[in-house]
Amino acid sequence: MFRDITTLLLDPAGFARSIERIVEGVDGPVDLVAGIEARGFIFAAPVAVALGAGVLLLRKDGKLPGATIAEDYALEYGTDRIAIHADAFAPGARVLLIDDLIATGGTARAAVRLLRKAAAQVTQAAFVIDLPELGGADSLRVEGIEVNALVA
Ligand code: PRP
Ligand code: ADE
Repeated sequence: MFRDITTLLLDPAGFARSIERIVEGVDGPVDLVAGIEARGFIFAAPVAVALGAGVLLLRKDGKLPGATIAEDYALEYGTDRIAIHADAFAPGARVLLIDDLIATGGTARAAVRLLRKAAAQVTQAAFVIDLPELGGADSLRVEGIEVNALVA
C-alpha cells in the first residue's frame, strides 16, 4: 500500500504540527539537515529553518552541478544512486537525516554511508512514517542512528 503524504501537505495545521513534532524529537545541536530527494526535501527545509541549521540536498545522481560523491543502493527492481557535493560541509559536521518515509531502509542506509564517507557525524534520523514490519528503522539503529518517526 502506498503511504501518501500529499494530503498531509495540503493541511496547514497538520503539516505545521508534523514539522514541530520532528523538531521536538531532535537530540542536540545540528549543523545541517539532510533531506532525501524528493519527498524528504519538503520536510528537511522547514526543520532546518526551525533549528537554525542549513539544508543539505541528498540528490538522485546526475542532478548536482559541482563535483560529487555518490553512493549506490538497491531497489526492489534495480539500483539507484544518491549524491552530494564533495565540498558541501567540513569534516565533523553534525547532520540530521530526514525523509518522509522509511520502508526497507535501503535509501536511508545509503544516505548514512554517503554522509559518513564525507566525514559527517550522523547520529539521528527523522521520518514522518515508519513501516516497522519492513525493518528499515531497526537496520538504521544497528548503524548507531537514533530513529524518530511520527507514525508507525
Ligand atoms: C521513497 C521514500 C523514501 C524511500 C523509502 O522514495 O520517499 O525515500 O522510498 O524506501 P526504502 O526505505 O525501502 O528505501 P522514492 O525512491 O519513491 O523517491 P521519491 O521521494 O522521489 O518519490
Ligand atoms: N516508499 C517505499 N515504500 C513506500 C510506501 N509503501 N509508501 C510510500 N512511499 C514508499
